[in-house]
Amino acid sequence: MEQTQSNGNVKFFNGKQLPLEMHKVRIVQALNLVPVERRLQAIAEAGYNSFLLGTGDIFLDMLTDSGTNAMSDAQLSKMFVADDAYAGSTSFDKLQKSVQDVFGKKYLLPVHQGRAAENIISKTYVKEGSVIPMNYHFTTTLAHIQLNGGKVVELYTPEAMKIKSSHPFKGNIDVQRLEELIIKSGVENVPFIRMEASTNLVGGQPFSMNNLREVRKVADKYGKIIILDASLVGENAYFIMKREPGYESTSIADILLEMCDLCDIVYFSARKVSSSRGGGICTNNPELFNHMKFLVPLYEGFLTYGGIPIREIESMAEGLRETTDSNVVGQSPAFISYMVEELDKLGIPVIMPGGALGCHVDAMNFLDHLPQTEYPAGSLVAAYFIISGNRGMERGTISNNRDENGVDILADLELMRLALPRRVFTLSQIEYAIDRLNWLYQNRKLVGGLRFVEEPPILRFFTGRLEPVSDWPEKLAAKFRHDFGDSL
Ligand code: F0G
Repeated sequence: MEQTQSNGNVKFFNGKQLPLEMHKVRIVQALNLVPVERRLQAIAEAGYNSFLLGTGDIFLDMLTDSGTNAMSDAQLSKMFVADDAYAGSTSFDKLQKSVQDVFGKKYLLPVHQGRAAENIISKTYVKEGSVIPMNYHFTTTLAHIQLNGGKVVELYTPEAMKIKSSHPFKGNIDVQRLEELIIKSGVENVPFIRMEASTNLVGGQPFSMNNLREVRKVADKYGKIIILDASLVGENAYFIMKREPGYESTSIADILLEMCDLCDIVYFSARKVSSSRGGGICTNNPELFNHMKFLVPLYEGFLTYGGIPIREIESMAEGLRETTDSNVVGQSPAFISYMVEELDKLGIPVIMPGGALGCHVDAMNFLDHLPQTEYPAGSLVAAYFIISGNRGMERGTISNNRDENGVDILADLELMRLALPRRVFTLSQIEYAIDRLNWLYQNRKLVGGLRFVEEPPILRFFTGRLEPVSDWPEKLAAKFRHDFGDSL
């Protein structure tokens, strides 16, 4: 497939190595930077949970890239020609054609977002006693599999848990353990193998094509299907191009086709992969398609819109094609790489090498005076908001549910994720984010822990409320005021 010539990741010298932006900003949204006193009040009102903050109080919103990537002019213009119809919309035909061209899959089920795909896949294939091997879980994936009686087994390699590493593919699955698990669990109890591109919860780390090829061999040996979570597949393909020997001059388009060809079902959050909103499940196997198809009109909407507004289907069709442009999928990784390298120079513990989606700060190390039971990642997110106005996301123990005895399942990694949605921030904003994090690092001993005051039984991180274990937020804000004078 043809691909736009890329030079977006050329670094130029200006006293510093800088990523070069291959876009210009023509539509803008004003931002607020409210004073530290208001931020202190806002985070208390939000129960120290960054999901419960309002954007009126936020300066740089680094919560997620989900539905917040910048859209292209081509995407926006396509939205005006949407063919609104309950059934048989020509806009859906365009999306099917994009999916066929970009993922190489003929049959498409539209769904309203990524977790809706997980619901349909889990309802179809997971039952009581099922065992699902994967490189790592994502929060909503795990919840859907468990709701249907299945168990997730994560087969990451030891490299995945090393904060600072030079391993290019920390998202690889351990193929030997995969085979052992299938044998041990009983072949009939493993409905599918799940691979997640740019593994979200281990810092956006990719897997290699070679690893996927090895997984295919195991799958074929035991007659298993592979399901690819392609929500961050564009970035994974970009890392294969940049890091895997033999792929240096392969286009992103061809890498994507090769990846998807190795998998039986590909599902995605369009909020991420195509910088739009919606999701989908696709396959070339009519039997697999027919297993899942009936659930779409029940949970999502008719088969040609699946709960997605048609204008978003138009922008998704265009956005998917843009995913084959390395200037598009390489922009966020280039900024992330710049940010993690600058933070590393300052001695701040971050996941290295930089991956997809965002910069991941290692809260266990940053706040090494806090016990994990006081939620260091959650505390760091709250503290960083107070002193910068920037909103990150907790990706640690708060993002886990409790076990059946009500005890916290301590996370493998306690991370503050600072998402860099595609083409949204400027480099001066990244410099501000780095500068404030550096100040917080110098003052880290002022940050204390959190405890739950209101805790939902499932996916508690979304709506749960916490409180600080002492008056540390006030002391932190006072130190900020002392150091920064009347600056915000
Ligand atoms: N799979 C992965 C790998 C994801 O990162 C996400 C969402 C989903 C599935 C679910 O998709 O949100 O459209 O329902 N990740 C977002 C994030 C929420 O912030 O990382 P969704």
